[in-house]
Amino acid sequence: MSKEMAPPPSSFGKGQRGKPVVKPKDMKGTLRRLWELTQGQRQGLGWLMLLSAVASASTILSPLLIGTAVTAIDTGNPALQLLILLAALYLTDWLVRFLQQFFMAAIGQRIILHIRSTLFEKMKALPLSFFDSRQHGELMSRLTNDVDNISTTISDSLTQLMTYGFTIIGILCIMLRLSLPLTCIAFISVWLIFLLTRTITKHTRKLFAQQQQILGKLNGQVEESISGLNMVKAFGREAEMTEQFEESNARLCQVATKAQIWSGFLMPLTNVINNLNFVIVAVVSGILAAYGRISVGLISSFLLYSRQFSRPFVDIANIYNNFQTAVAGAERIFEILEEEPEPADAPDALPLTAPRGEVEFSHVTFGYQAQEPVLKDVSFRVPAGTRVAVVGSTGAGKTTLINLLTRFYDVNSGSILLDGRDLRQYRLQDLRRTFGVVLQDTALFGMSVRDNISYGNKDVLPERIRAAAKTAGADSFIRRLPQGYDTPIGENGAKLSGGERQRISIARALLKNAPIVLLDEATASLDVENETKVQGALSRLLAGKTVLVIAHRMRTVAGADHIVVLENGRVAEQGTPAELMEKGGLYRRMVELQSHSAQWQLNGNE
Ligand code: UTP
Ligand code: MG
Repeated sequence: MSKEMAPPPSSFGKGQRGKPVVKPKDMKGTLRRLWELTQGQRQGLGWLMLLSAVASASTILSPLLIGTAVTAIDTGNPALQLLILLAALYLTDWLVRFLQQFFMAAIGQRIILHIRSTLFEKMKALPLSFFDSRQHGELMSRLTNDVDNISTTISDSLTQLMTYGFTIIGILCIMLRLSLPLTCIAFISVWLIFLLTRTITKHTRKLFAQQQQILGKLNGQVEESISGLNMVKAFGREAEMTEQFEESNARLCQVATKAQIWSGFLMPLTNVINNLNFVIVAVVSGILAAYGRISVGLISSFLLYSRQFSRPFVDIANIYNNFQTAVAGAERIFEILEEEPEPADAPDALPLTAPRGEVEFSHVTFGYQAQEPVLKDVSFRVPAGTRVAVVGSTGAGKTTLINLLTRFYDVNSGSILLDGRDLRQYRLQDLRRTFGVVLQDTALFGMSVRDNISYGNKDVLPERIRAAAKTAGADSFIRRLPQGYDTPIGENGAKLSGGERQRISIARALLKNAPIVLLDEATASLDVENETKVQGALSRLLAGKTVLVIAHRMRTVAGADHIVVLENGRVAEQGTPAELMEKGGLYRRMVELQSHSAQWQLNGNE
């Protein structure tokens, strides 16, 4: 089925009439890929097909049997055998439908399990740059909603479609055999229903899409009002907030009512057509019977068939729309599966067991978008076991240095060397093990404090966790928490203060005991007194390791062996703190500015 096909009559039936349909871009290609995903379940699908054929056979045969029984009774012949056969047929029908459900549930869920794990595996392997340019909520919806859509479609629609396919063909054959003129009448009514559904759903589809859009807006407003309620109150914007909400709410009411009314037309109108068809078939067949052209039994069979004939058409329209939406969802999933993963290690990638810890940036140029370099020709060296500080104004590219070192991103040109070799020559996993990182945006998980600190370090002794927490200045506040180290800290540590979160992530990095430590504004949320304490403990503990510190507060970096000043992505100056003070450049200006403002604050507090 290609996209240039005329739009089918839209949805009809259980509460889904005219739901907005998302059209797939490449139906054939996506279906082929979906089919590939069913590998391993083909046998089950074969069984399902067989069951569908049996199910439709029983649907098709029963009116014929009823008709024959009526004729038998009408002509005074025994009909008991026929009735027993009919009962057996109904029983088979029930059993087959049950088995169909059983197979479908099992197959559908197994396929979905496979898709979901493949997708998750893929997301794990994707480079961070992939996530930068996408809304996270949207990606999550692919993992949940889109996959769910496929699942429902596979388990509901597929069985129905198979059964209907067999049923329509079977019934058509029998109806044609029974009577050509009556079949023509039945066909006209099916055609009318088809046209009617198409006309009405063209209209309702627009309305439902509008409803969806307003609902999305309303959700956004509610979410924003709740999350920003303190600001709303602080700026006294309650009245405006309510007004905006009321406006959207009223619009939603209006559009939803229209949509419901329109879609409500469909069912009764279809019934009218169906009933008219029934009457016309009855009248015509009555006339034919009066002339002795057909039997009474044939009439009852035919009437039942014509009813059964129109039903699949109405349902198929609905199923087809759901099907399109699911295929479009599958397309979004395949889009992710096709993304380029993080480059794999070269076959000759080097292991990295005991690095000395010498880092060198050599003429590094890099941009998150290739045409907009963030770092330009950056070169500096961090000898093993020394402490290098990077300073510079906000947006200068400091965090970017860490993103490159940990190979979250790769340089565009130039190279970064670890122990004299390009980072890209090492096994990625080994490389990442080499760094203990405290990122500027602390990322914690919704588990206990203990699990957060020992993250990635299984079976670590409680004493070591405690020691790390002590060095990070976190032990005392953790012990004051209701369940101490076992207290759950909420999503991304929501129950903790900014400084508490930072200290936990410092403890986590310390526990990793990696040879190179990267601290990006690791103590920026702490007050001066606590920062001094934590920095002191850190420098004692990290003595002998290679440390890269990024900080805004000059006091934090004063103890470094070497200082690199970044300005607009370029190294503006570098040297020991003393050298840079003497030089009287940017660094000195920053130091003086900060001691000035500190002085000013002190005076102001007096
Ligand atoms: P950095 O994040 O490296 O700046 O971004 P910084 O020096 O650490 O700044 P502060 O002190 O933490 O505030 C450098 C540039 O890279 C861009 C930013 O907009 C900034 O101009 N950038 C950063 C991106 O384009 N994409 C990203 O994912 C991150
Ligand atoms: Mg930064």
